[in-house]
Amino acid sequence: MKIKFILPLFVVSVLFALVSFTSSLDPQYIDISDVVIIDIPENVKAIIDNKCMECHSNEAKNGKSKMKMNFDKLSNGDYSTGKVISKLDKIVKMLGKDKMPPEKFLAKNPDKKLSSEESKLISDWASGQSSMMKGE
Ligand code: HEC
Repeated sequence: MKIKFILPLFVVSVLFALVSFTSSLDPQYIDISDVVIIDIPENVKAIIDNKCMECHSNEAKNGKSKMKMNFDKLSNGDYSTGKVISKLDKIVKMLGKDKMPPEKFLAKNPDKKLSSEESKLISDWASGQSSMMKGE
């Protein structure tokens, strides 16, 4: 009576173990189709070109700022979807705290300060783009 019940249970658990074993042996890979190309609206792009690209583009001299945020990579498919979303959220955060462009740089280049309209335009775009990509 008992064995009748235990045997199928045993078979099921062996099958289960086999399945999880084989799936843990699946090769790991990076999905290169995860490419996202973003078309930054012209009015937003104009501000970024003028006030951010000096430090945040492929041509930027400062390695750190370029590594942290590169608008060329953000728009041309060099960042994964996840990275694009996290960078967009960082933009909103940085501009919300008035942290970009950096104060030190603004002391020498006051014309590069974002007006509140410009800051809002970039933030609104970044948060809208991020929400859309998160499927919100
Ligand atoms: C003078 C150079 C300079 C300019 C101009 C500048 N940034 Fe930055 N930015 C930096 C540096 C340096 C960092 C890295 C700060 C750190 O991590 O200490 C940074 C970091 C950031 C980050 C954070 C990225 C991350 O993942 O942590 C964002 C977002 C950002 N900048 C957005 C902007 C935007 C938007 C503009 C234009 C309005 C701008 N920056 C203009 C130098 C600059």
